[in-house]
Amino acid sequence: MATLHGKHIARLVASRYDNPTGAEIGVLFGKTSLTLLSLIPRLTLYLIDPWELSLDGGGVGKSCSQLRTARHDTQHRVAEYITNGQAILIHNTSERAAESIADAFLDFAVIDGRHDYDYVAADILRWRRTIGTGLLIGHDYRYDTPTPGKYLFPGVDQAVDEFARSEGRMVHTLPGHVWWIDMGTANG
Ligand SMILES: C[S@@+](CC[C@H](N)C(=O)[O-])C[C@H]1O[C@@H](n2cnc3c(N)ncnc32)[C@H](O)[C@@H]1O
Repeated sequence: MATLHGKHIARLVASRYDNPTGAEIGVLFGKTSLTLLSLIPRLTLYLIDPWELSLDGGGVGKSCSQLRTARHDTQHRVAEYITNGQAILIHNTSERAAESIADAFLDFAVIDGRHDYDYVAADILRWRRTIGTGLLIGHDYRYDTPTPGKYLFPGVDQAVDEFARSEGRMVHTLPGHVWWIDMGTANG
């Protein structure tokens, strides 16, 4: 089943690009990857995740047994796109994977790996280089809780807001707790 955030990200990307290349950082079971691949025409997607039991995603991790099957689930889920070359699985951390991607090679990056402040802030900076004037996108922004004004992933909110402020750019949002920043226009 398609993910809500994936559907909205797909609509955004498809409205901007004819033949896009993107990366999803933090893939887990590949549900959003499949949503993007099936809804964005002619997408080439790099799926990046270490799928390591020691890495819990910074507060959004699944149990060990779930993570153990996640890579296999992803491979199975996007199998037809692996076969036709549209899906490229990179079994590595965000840090290492970004090193192998050239400046401005991508049109967009979806940041959904670890959710603690330091990691999100670092991911924004490292993937920003790879998208040039494209779209920086992420998940779990302003994820509200039953307590008014309290959000589930404050590290995500803080990192995104600080980056946008430092760049003088706007943080746009979409349903499903999506944030995105346009790095191509003057004020984003
Ligand atoms: C919230 S889940 C991703 C959910 C997925 N994007 C979706 O929409 O279904 C977070 C994922 O980040 C991965 N992760 C943890 N540390 C990471 C790192 N350093 N680099 C990339 N991914 C990481 C975890 O293995 C986990 O699968």
